[in-house]
Amino acid sequence: MSFVDRLRSQFVARFGAAPQLYRAPGRVNLIGEHTDYNDGFVLPAAIDLATYVGAARREDRRLVVHSLAFDESVEVDLDAAPAPRRHWSDYVVGVVLGLEREGVRLSGANMMLATELPMGAGLSTSAALEVAVGYAFCDLAGSTVDRKGLALLCQRAENEFVGMRCGVMDQLISCCGVAGHALLIDCRTLAMRAAPLDARARLVICNTMVGHELAASEYNKRREECERAVALLSAEIDGVRALRDVSPEALARYGAAWPGAILRRARHVVTENARTLAAAAALEAGDLTLFGRLMNESHASLRDDYEVSCAEADLMVDLAQGMEGVLGARLTGGGFGGSTVNLVEADAVERFTLFIAQAYRNAMGLTPQIFCAMPSAGVGRVSS
Ligand code: GLA
Repeated sequence: MSFVDRLRSQFVARFGAAPQLYRAPGRVNLIGEHTDYNDGFVLPAAIDLATYVGAARREDRRLVVHSLAFDESVEVDLDAAPAPRRHWSDYVVGVVLGLEREGVRLSGANMMLATELPMGAGLSTSAALEVAVGYAFCDLAGSTVDRKGLALLCQRAENEFVGMRCGVMDQLISCCGVAGHALLIDCRTLAMRAAPLDARARLVICNTMVGHELAASEYNKRREECERAVALLSAEIDGVRALRDVSPEALARYGAAWPGAILRRARHVVTENARTLAAAAALEAGDLTLFGRLMNESHASLRDDYEVSCAEADLMVDLAQGMEGVLGARLTGGGFGGSTVNLVEADAVERFTLFIAQAYRNAMGLTPQIFCAMPSAGVGRVSS
């Protein structure tokens, strides 16, 4: 039985009626890391692993959500002003409250959640969950979905209800992904340009199988460091609202006397924005060698300037970068564990997978998950 059929039949067994099914993909970011909350550029692709929601309306205002991954149910009264509980259900409830605040009057619903995404692997399980639930509720309420609006609403739910100050990249790509393409997104204007992935290469994801505890607190700390850099620069240069507005030359000039960590954080963001634009152009021009080199440079900058890598991810990247047939390799997502993304020549993928799995296991004692990601479409209904 397929994943989707299993979800459907478990829904019927639990709730006694057939659900409508929705799918929201996870993502892999090719380049443009920690730039989204600096009004900068990102180049992610939605992937062919997703989170699914089965949903059916209820006549009352209760929300009954069952998670298959946690084998746990939660019931919420939509009229009782629910508060965050530091629980997976916060992602669901935060989005529902956000929709109501925007004036979408919701009925209650029975929901079942299931995911193909490995959790804690830096592939955006939380954004996929928020987006799937938000889309499902809009659809059940009969309101048309503005995809960018839904992404912003989900980001806000995560910022304000869950308490994670994430940028908008993950929610946007889960909403707006295009099959076969990566999207260059301007996180200030939300303008997007789809760039087709070259058939000569594959996107291979390697899950380090580690997720270090400090990820959330360090993430929020990096944001504060960027805000400090902006405050310092805007006192010197007119019109600087975000690190997006700063050139590498201006940073070198004004940042020389700053505390070292602040300069390094800002340098990562400023150079990463330039790399991301260059990478999108390289992809469009079919220059995979240049694209791969920019990925490698991005990793070095994340490791040395932004300091969000870890020994496991550095090893995974070093192993990959040393191999023939590998065009580029880097940490993807927020960091402190999670996954790496590798651009690998199509005919080298098998060799790559065998070698990395064995070398990583030998060094770390952990068996990594390694798979090719196919860029997929954004959130939508699953046809029955
Ligand atoms: C996490 C956040 C995103 C983005 C990345 C880093 O995935 O949710 O908004 O900031 O980290 O690029």
